[in-house]
Amino acid sequence: MTETCPPEGAALSWDDLAAKASVARECAYAPYSRFLVGAALEADDGRVFTGCNVENASYPVGTCAERMALGQAVVSGARSFARIVVATSGAVPASPCGMCRQALAEFGMDLEVMSVGAGGEATTWRLRDLLPAHFSPESLESLERVAARPEAGS
Ligand code: THU
Repeated sequence: MTETCPPEGAALSWDDLAAKASVARECAYAPYSRFLVGAALEADDGRVFTGCNVENASYPVGTCAERMALGQAVVSGARSFARIVVATSGAVPASPCGMCRQALAEFGMDLEVMSVGAGGEATTWRLRDLLPAHFSPESLESLERVAARPEAGS
């Protein structure tokens, strides 16, 4: 029988999750900013999906580590998440950018978010505290009401 480490079914510690984020950070492609980011996103079923930032000569085309991890998760069928660890090459923990907060918010506001700096310093938040009053699927419900309103002057 093949042993897994940690044993199958055992909860990962924050350190385990941070180690996975750090491994992903080593794969970052960030020749422009030189700011390396790795992310490890843990689904409620225990699976962990990783991502890294991938920059581009056309700067806005670059993607963040968190959204890459989220994409990996969704294409694998995971849609509810417990924790994410973001590991950067910066000296101090950096919180996820606004676009990544919004992307993660789509799947639940209870997500625990940890950021780890290169020196090992860590900070933890709840996503609901990082992105209060977020744009949600419910926000789109107003669309129907506006569309149903008659044109001005008709
Ligand atoms: N970056 C991330 O990967 N995640 C964040 O939450 C913030 C920023 C990346 C984007 C870019 O490649 C580099 O870090 C510097 O902004």
